[in-house]
Amino acid sequence: MQPVEIKKDIYWVGAIDWNIRDFHGYSTPKGTTYNAFLVKDDKITLFDVVKKPFKDDLVQNVKRLGVEKLDYLVVNHVEMDHSGALPEVIEVLRPERIVCSPAGKKALMDHYHREDWPFEVVETGQELSLGKRTLQFLETRMLHWPDSMMSYIEEDRLLISSDGFGQHWATSERFDDEVNQEELLAHAAKYYANILLLFSPLVQKLIAKVQELGLQIDMIAPDHGLIWRSDPGRIIQAYNSWSLQESREKALIIYDTMWQSTEKMAFAIAEGLNQEGAAFKLLNLKLNHRSDIMTEVLDAKAIVFGSSTINNGMMPSMADVLCYMKGLRPIGKLGVAFGSYGWSGEAVKHITDVLTEMKFKVLNGGLRVRFAPTPEDLEKCVDLGRQIGKEVKRAKV
Ligand code: FEO
Repeated sequence: MQPVEIKKDIYWVGAIDWNIRDFHGYSTPKGTTYNAFLVKDDKITLFDVVKKPFKDDLVQNVKRLGVEKLDYLVVNHVEMDHSGALPEVIEVLRPERIVCSPAGKKALMDHYHREDWPFEVVETGQELSLGKRTLQFLETRMLHWPDSMMSYIEEDRLLISSDGFGQHWATSERFDDEVNQEELLAHAAKYYANILLLFSPLVQKLIAKVQELGLQIDMIAPDHGLIWRSDPGRIIQAYNSWSLQESREKALIIYDTMWQSTEKMAFAIAEGLNQEGAAFKLLNLKLNHRSDIMTEVLDAKAIVFGSSTINNGMMPSMADVLCYMKGLRPIGKLGVAFGSYGWSGEAVKHITDVLTEMKFKVLNGGLRVRFAPTPEDLEKCVDLGRQIGKEVKRAKV
């Protein structure tokens, strides 16, 4: 991909990864991008690099712009999708200074062990003149790693936002207004749910800090996906809602089944939800990836977990999704477990224990059925669905 001018003398010089399908456990069915940005001012400045296999794309793009040497290389984030190509890029483009946060320097040393690199450590509020422009740095610890920071250029009203506001979506387009809006927001929501949800309190602090500093922003350039230029306030507003974990009247039934008994229970619970007029989705764990499930969790009010009992516990697929979900810390959810069993039947209790640990509001001790459900058992499932439906429609959790 050729460089793209995003503001006068500021260029996207990153790489498109069309083929990645798994990003440390997050499914990326439409690939991703590793964005990097070059400012041509009195000081030639590069913001972030790319994943190691894409180093030639980045260097070629920089050279296409007539740049053979950098003055500054700003490392907003050290995770290797943004720093993997650093050793080669530093060798070829020989920056005078490598600008990073205090935690960034530590992380760079821990990754690359190069004390000879010309580090310049900056902190929140610190400025760096590029000539006609002045950079302002904003440390954003844990969004996504301790080292993360964002860079703001007041003259261009441009926020270079690192992982924040990103999406894993490979496209030939570079700007938000060039793609389908619904799909764009869906990718941004999936990214938030799977990367940033557990740091939601820090996202709230970031939004407050941006307001406190009075940053005027008319473009947000993240390190993944499309650049927000048509209305950056829209994605900031979405982040506000997601970080407050605002839910809507929606229930999820997440389940796995051995011999379709738990599935029959799931369908009967869905029938009860439907009778109450509550929105719901059935998510079979054999057919839905954990990261797509997390996207649905983002705005769900109730989550119903179904698993057969196997080997005195829950199905491994259920353990997987619960472990993943617990780490991402959704809050304010109603939860309940159900499932079929043969003789011991521990799955429902084990799931309920995890829901309690996650501080879900657990509706009851769960619903178990021995082997195949009878019509009476299924009626109990419908009743449970109706109970959940009522809660979804009235509960403030
Ligand atoms: Fe896109 Fe936290 O790296």
